[in-house]
Amino acid sequence: MDNQQNYWDKKITGYSKEKWIDKPSIFAKWAIQFFPKNGKLLELGAGHGQDGNFFATKGYSVISTDFSETALKYNLQKHSLKQISIQKLNLKKVFPFNDNEFNIIYAHLAIHFFDNKITTQIFSEIYRVLKPEGILAVIVNSTKDPEYNTGNKIENDFFELLPGITKRFFSIQSMEKFSYQFKTLIMDHEGKSYKDKVKLIKFIGQKSK
Ligand SMILES: C[S@@+](CC[C@H](N)C(=O)[O-])C[C@H]1O[C@@H](n2cnc3c(N)ncnc32)[C@H](O)[C@@H]1O
Repeated sequence: MDNQQNYWDKKITGYSKEKWIDKPSIFAKWAIQFFPKNGKLLELGAGHGQDGNFFATKGYSVISTDFSETALKYNLQKHSLKQISIQKLNLKKVFPFNDNEFNIIYAHLAIHFFDNKITTQIFSEIYRVLKPEGILAVIVNSTKDPEYNTGNKIENDFFELLPGITKRFFSIQSMEKFSYQFKTLIMDHEGKSYKDKVKLIKFIGQKSK
């Protein structure tokens, strides 16, 4: 097992003790207003899957994914609605889905761990598997994060914080660059989560017709 999977398995177990772990995130409750009224939603880096479950209770057909076996185990134990399917997906790889499959793609604090090449690939895979007019909703760490500029700098805005454990910090400019294929509906530095003390970058985009 690689360092990253091991790290996330432990982190995910630690999340079990947090009082926010079973409630939908602030971002999920806000972002849903931009979604089509129903359809197929792909959740990336779901952790325990509390947001995917929230979307399923609102009638969406959800595929909730993560690469951590521990995350998948918690998600499966907790969520049994028939509208949720839980699958292993490593964001570093090509997504195992067809072109134009999803109405919505959603990621809460899950796509800011990768170098420039993989981050570019993730946005292009998201674009590929979204249907025309589909919605992308993501929230990520920002360059205002206290961890920014700590550890070993690997690339611009991308650091190794512990051996093999990396983090990217987005700015509005870099989000504009990675999301260039999408029509921007919302992009700001006002995102909040239950666990981060500093504001986050949030992005709602739409694939063209
Ligand atoms: C900060 S947690 C967020 C979890 C959940 N979305 C939440 O907000 O509670 C980051 C998640 O990304 C997942 N992750 C990290 N690297 C990944 C990768 N290469 N592929 C898929 N998921 C990954 C971790 O396992 C973890 O569940």
